[in-house]
Amino acid sequence: MDFEFNKLNQIAFGYWHSNTFFALSDLGVFEFLGEGSHMIGEIAGACHFEVDAGRSLLNAGVALSLLKLATVGNFSNSPMALRFMTSGSKEALTNWVGVMGIWAKPWLTIADAIRTGRSVEPQGPVISADPDYTTKFILGMHEYASRGSDDIAAAVDLSEARTMVDVGGGAGTYSIAFCKRNPGLRSVIMDLPEVLEIADRMASEAGLRDRIELRSIDYRSSGFGTNVDCVLFSNVLHQESREVGRDMLERARAALSPGGKVLVHGHFLTEDRTGPVFATLHNLSARIIWDGGHSYTIDEMKSLMAEAGFESLDVAATPSGATKAILGRKPS
Ligand SMILES: C[S@@+](CC[C@H](N)C(=O)[O-])C[C@H]1O[C@@H](n2cnc3c(N)ncnc32)[C@H](O)[C@@H]1O
Repeated sequence: MDFEFNKLNQIAFGYWHSNTFFALSDLGVFEFLGEGSHMIGEIAGACHFEVDAGRSLLNAGVALSLLKLATVGNFSNSPMALRFMTSGSKEALTNWVGVMGIWAKPWLTIADAIRTGRSVEPQGPVISADPDYTTKFILGMHEYASRGSDDIAAAVDLSEARTMVDVGGGAGTYSIAFCKRNPGLRSVIMDLPEVLEIADRMASEAGLRDRIELRSIDYRSSGFGTNVDCVLFSNVLHQESREVGRDMLERARAALSPGGKVLVHGHFLTEDRTGPVFATLHNLSARIIWDGGHSYTIDEMKSLMAEAGFESLDVAATPSGATKAILGRKPS
């Protein structure tokens, strides 16, 4: 066993694995198979692909444990695909995987983003311009984030808070989790108008539409209200430059009552910026697809929050430690 040879090739061939997955998803193979099993000819007819080429793709899907082969030419979803890749499943990640497939294209040009120091295909403007992308992105984030949102709501004590503003709140994943956890809390999701239509649906489905308000803003320039008890920035500040981030934090301070809390939630780098692996790649992703975007270490974010006038900076983490929230207090 040559560990280094294997490790290097695992990295080099990584995109063969993910692109096979994205192609199966994009062609609609998982959705068509659902709980059933079908012959390759039927699948090719329903998913509109050439039979021989498609057989190669599906066979690779079997090798990757995404599909199962009952008899020669007869395919079904693996338990993993049935759980995550069929939209009827409660745990579906279909929109999220679709977004990952879209982002695979700008990721291929990563060296250009690094050479120029600028994002290659900024995704910010696409959010308002392409409704299909917006739906996929916002629902995708909701699918992915709702698996851990209750954990962060449990880790942060907002029992005293009555009003929260969820800036760039997306589908409302965290407003929903915090409102469920804290029965006395009401939240205002502030986001782009196209996104709020989706948040409206999600808040209604969660039975919380009476405690969740929706407000259309541009977070780069709008105020965040007055006399609120808590302002939440969840997975938002890494999309913006440090200067924009500081300005947003200052506007959060202006919106808070004395003693109010700001909560910055997301993925943070270790202080030497070389870990955890996911956070280092998330940082690269921010540089590739968000203009000015980049990740922070906990200390870097704490000093940005202190510059914006916050004190008592504490850190709360989910049990898995995957994401963290930094809490700051507006001085009384
Ligand atoms: C990565 S998502 C985070 C969503 C949610 N807070 C979460 O943690 O799952 C970033 C959000 O910022 C919103 N956004 C981006 N640019 C914005 C702008 N200029 N004004 C308001 N919202 C914006 C996007 O629509 C999206 O919902």
